[in-house]
Amino acid sequence: MTERKKTTLPMLFKKAADGQPITWLTCYDYPTAYLQEQAGIDMILVGDSLGMTMLGYESTLPVTMDDMIRHTQAVRRGAPKVFLIGDMPYMSYQPSVETAIRNAGRFMAEAGCDGVKLEGGTEMVDRVRGIVGAGIPIMGHLGLTPQSVSALGGYRVQGKGALQAKKIVDDAKALEEAGVYAILLEMVPDRLCKLITERAEKCFIMSLGSGTDAHGQLLIYHDMFGLYPRFKPRMAKVFGNAGEVILNGLKAYVEEVSNKTFPQPENYFGMNDDEYDELVKLLD
Ligand code: KIV
Repeated sequence: MTERKKTTLPMLFKKAADGQPITWLTCYDYPTAYLQEQAGIDMILVGDSLGMTMLGYESTLPVTMDDMIRHTQAVRRGAPKVFLIGDMPYMSYQPSVETAIRNAGRFMAEAGCDGVKLEGGTEMVDRVRGIVGAGIPIMGHLGLTPQSVSALGGYRVQGKGALQAKKIVDDAKALEEAGVYAILLEMVPDRLCKLITERAEKCFIMSLGSGTDAHGQLLIYHDMFGLYPRFKPRMAKVFGNAGEVILNGLKAYVEEVSNKTFPQPENYFGMNDDEYDELVKLLD
């Protein structure tokens, strides 16, 4: 097998320019990161969605920088060659430009990220400029931004009306001018995504539930494999039901231990007769 090269920003921009869709998934742990890298995924997002998918919170808001760093380090160990993006959690960048730069720096220095992502548009331009100024590649995130889910009135499509759509177009331009290398559009109408993608000059556009016209696609890993029990968003396609496979395996384990068909001799270790007799003598 040929050794995979480290994915870099110029490689991603080239893919976008060549019309080759960029592949991107969320990931939060070492073994999954290993598999994603083997599968040839270009980018991994250690999303603050880990608060829901891995830690069982109701939203992403309780996730801390320390949670993010711990998971991102594990992912980097499993996938040393992918372009790794750390997702800035709630209140790690909102309070001030300095807070934003320091926390973006932690992702790079402590977790080996290649870049970071934050949510928000025009109101985040000074944070973006500060982070870019510190030499850290940053991605924007518009449309449905889960950290503002309460203000947005729930997990719903954003930019369906012309005025709201115009605001998203303006936000995308503002982020681009501030220096983001990419923008994620989550749950905006496909025509809006196409329009923003066509207008992007200095950054590439990624889609999560926003249609086919972006430069690449993102999915939440747990949604792809039936691993999140609370709900399945409409935009997610199930590529395999790992949740069902694991549940059936767990039920079989409970059954086999209960009826004493597990373990079998190949699942445990013996001791030779001489040693065993000697042991019995010693105990006597
Ligand atoms: O945290 C996350 O996984 C994200 C995605 C929903 C885009 O930000």
